[in-house]
Amino acid sequence: MIILVGSQKGGPGKSTVAMNLAVEYATQGKDVCLVDADSQRSIATWHADREDQNRQPALACVEKLGNIAQTLTDLATRFDIVIVDVAGKDSKEMRTGMTAADKLIVVVRPSQLDLDTLGHMSEIIEQAMDFNPELEVRGLISQAPSNPNITERDDAGEYLTDYPILKPLETVIHERKAYRDVVGEGLGVVEWSNPKAKAEIKELAAEVMA
Ligand SMILES: Nc1ncnc2c1ncn2[C@@H]1O[C@H](COP(=O)(O)OP(=O)(O)OP(=O)(O)O)[C@@H](O)[C@H]1O
Ligand SMILES: [Mg+2]
Repeated sequence: MIILVGSQKGGPGKSTVAMNLAVEYATQGKDVCLVDADSQRSIATWHADREDQNRQPALACVEKLGNIAQTLTDLATRFDIVIVDVAGKDSKEMRTGMTAADKLIVVVRPSQLDLDTLGHMSEIIEQAMDFNPELEVRGLISQAPSNPNITERDDAGEYLTDYPILKPLETVIHERKAYRDVVGEGLGVVEWSNPKAKAEIKELAAEVMA
């Protein structure tokens, strides 16, 4: 199973989602390999911190740039779940990753600047699906305001439905300090003390696999 986390916009929380899903699936007993396909190396750096601090369960991590399709296909024969993080732009890694992935999670903040990228992103996905018609594509709202008085989140949910190729995930990831606090510890939020962050990652992990 290859899960690619992508977006054309920088900073919505792709790496955060990738590392937290990886920890949750590993905690469930799955053999998980993270693939860092972004020269920024967010995942690789976090993974090195996790290893240095001897955090369990252990995860595998591979760094690969350029055409990543063959690497992903090979890793999928050896691991239960391969989770791929790419840069926040239209990249060779994202395009080749889409041709090999089983699932694509498109992460967007509920902001007009993020949402405006979805038209072009939909075209890229359509091109990839000519090669990989089985690709399951889901849209994920991340960094939604945790203040319930702010309604942007619901608007974004509606906005996603304007891009039928992106089937919206019901789980929404909110803006929570816990997501930033765990990074330097080499942990995921399911290993941390914030029950709301933990619950939303568990819900996301279940929904992605459903
Ligand atoms: N749900 C969240 N709540 C609070 N902070 C978050 C959340 N998600 C991400 N962040 C923070 O926002 C910043 C960007 O997140 P992240 O690096 O995961 O985004 P990205 O989409 O991978 O970015 P890039 O496009 O640069 O790869 C980081 O500082 C991260 O800790
Ligand atoms: Mg990133």
